[in-house]
Amino acid sequence: MSDDSVLAPGADPRDQADSPGPFPAPDLPTSVARNVVAWTRNNREHTDAAADRTWAAEGITWGVFGVPDESIGSPLGDLAGLDVVELGCGTAYFSAWLARRGARPVGVDPTPAQLETARRMQAQTGIHFPLIEAPGERVPLPDSSFDVAFSEYGASLWADPERWIPEAARLLRPGGQLVFLTNSVLVHLCEPQEGVVGEALLRPQAGMYRIAWPGEDGEEYGLSHGDWIRLLRRHGFEVLDLVELYAPPDAATHGYYDYVTPEWAAKWPAEELWVARRQN
Ligand SMILES: C[S@@+](CC[C@H](N)C(=O)[O-])C[C@H]1O[C@@H](n2cnc3c(N)ncnc32)[C@H](O)[C@@H]1O
Repeated sequence: MSDDSVLAPGADPRDQADSPGPFPAPDLPTSVARNVVAWTRNNREHTDAAADRTWAAEGITWGVFGVPDESIGSPLGDLAGLDVVELGCGTAYFSAWLARRGARPVGVDPTPAQLETARRMQAQTGIHFPLIEAPGERVPLPDSSFDVAFSEYGASLWADPERWIPEAARLLRPGGQLVFLTNSVLVHLCEPQEGVVGEALLRPQAGMYRIAWPGEDGEEYGLSHGDWIRLLRRHGFEVLDLVELYAPPDAATHGYYDYVTPEWAAKWPAEELWVARRQN
């Protein structure tokens, strides 16, 4: 597969100063353009500088508290030789970890600055795989071309589930696995507009779907467990597992994603990881 960037050769996407890129597009939710702006800034403030460290990590870890993959039963399994698509890859460190383990990843993300960091890291490390500039809602890749689709806080949190779940189903071969990590329902319910997640329910679960943040902080999507299960089943998935992630005992507050403390996340799950299989 070829690199499908829409940037001019040699262009630095960070020069576009928080531009929403080719979005908004009439057939996509307005959250796509808002989230590209949010993640262009996030790249400048954090993810570009963190990429040397995240790409170099030896072990696979999940989420803001770095939960070791083995401690939750390695939900992706052995991916050697498999075609894997990461929906919302960001700087693509997770795909790089999987490439080092023999998988054939393709990273998909709508934010040019994030993909530019991924390209810089590919050149630096010699770990190359295709990077596609697109949102999870509309992925320009063929039907039934992947064994695994996954997302660690990419499409799973930032793309419209009514649009990206059917895209994941379309991209997967029959029997293929969908694995995604996102905020827990409790975090969605207890996260204030500003500040850290507390012990009060601040948002109704009834009708929860799109959660817009003030200013240029973008728009997340959060569903109740029942709504996730019905959506997945509607698009031909069998739900295999729902792993609720707690902060490990030695966890420290994440230096940048500090919206939830390790003390809170040791008592309640801050994150949840879904494992589903596309039925034949
Ligand atoms: C937290 S990063 C995920 C990558 C990485 N696992 C990480 O934790 O840094 C979130 C990524 O989601 C991407 N994103 C935003 N809107 C998206 C959409 N509609 N579809 C797919 N990804 C999206 C952003 O561009 C950003 O790179």
